[in-house]
Amino acid sequence: AMRKKIVAGNWKMNMDYNEGLALFSEVINMVKDEATGSQQVVVCSPFIHLHSLAQLGKGYANIAIGAQNAHQNESGAFTGEISAKMIKSVGAVYVILGHSERRQYFGETNELLAKKTDTALANDLKPIFCIGETLQEREANTHFDVIKTQLAEGLFHLDETAFGKVVIAYEPVWAIGTGVTATSAQAQEIHAFIRAEIAAKYSQELADATTILYGGSCNPKNAAELFAQTDIDGGLIGGASLKSRDFTDIVKAFN
Ligand code: G3H
Repeated sequence: AMRKKIVAGNWKMNMDYNEGLALFSEVINMVKDEATGSQQVVVCSPFIHLHSLAQLGKGYANIAIGAQNAHQNESGAFTGEISAKMIKSVGAVYVILGHSERRQYFGETNELLAKKTDTALANDLKPIFCIGETLQEREANTHFDVIKTQLAEGLFHLDETAFGKVVIAYEPVWAIGTGVTATSAQAQEIHAFIRAEIAAKYSQELADATTILYGGSCNPKNAAELFAQTDIDGGLIGGASLKSRDFTDIVKAFN
């Protein structure tokens, strides 16, 4: 099936302004000839970098910028928050929603994330919607149920057209920042499950067109094997996205 392949970096709360610009300039120089056709490189930076990165990335069709969060309301008295419209206005294309760190440290629920998804889409931002089970949930053998519920409550209220704009990232929480990657078989099993859930809810066509990324200790050594799996369409990269060489090597891991 033809669907977009994406390697997305999530800088999390790293890089001051100048460090971020320097890193992104290196990444552009190293990947500008790599990501072609249906391949896309996305860099999700802190808010303060978005405008400058979007300017630097202009003219590279396969390089896009994203934010790491957006508020569920359109605007208003929410001191310190950033809206989807603001993010869109500086040239970002994507926004990560529901990262496990947002769920864990900021209390984001599936219900809230459904609202954030609506607001992002209403402002023409493409959500990179994160789902994934904790170690406890996997050990209790509830990981399929957790994924099913996150999809049902966070995304399956969308109509087909809206759902078609969403990228899904499967990130097992136990693999994030731990150096413990899911095996390619473990990741493929969940990705196939996610695609089957989409097919059951919408259609096989929409399921086949949906980009599903893997995230969690993805690095230049394991990326090629992960990306070679039938239902893995790229990665959401944390730690390794902070080093231009590692991030570029992961982009090059597409075959
Ligand atoms: O969004 C990225 C993920 O949380 C993965 O982070 O590559 O540092 O494990 P990591």
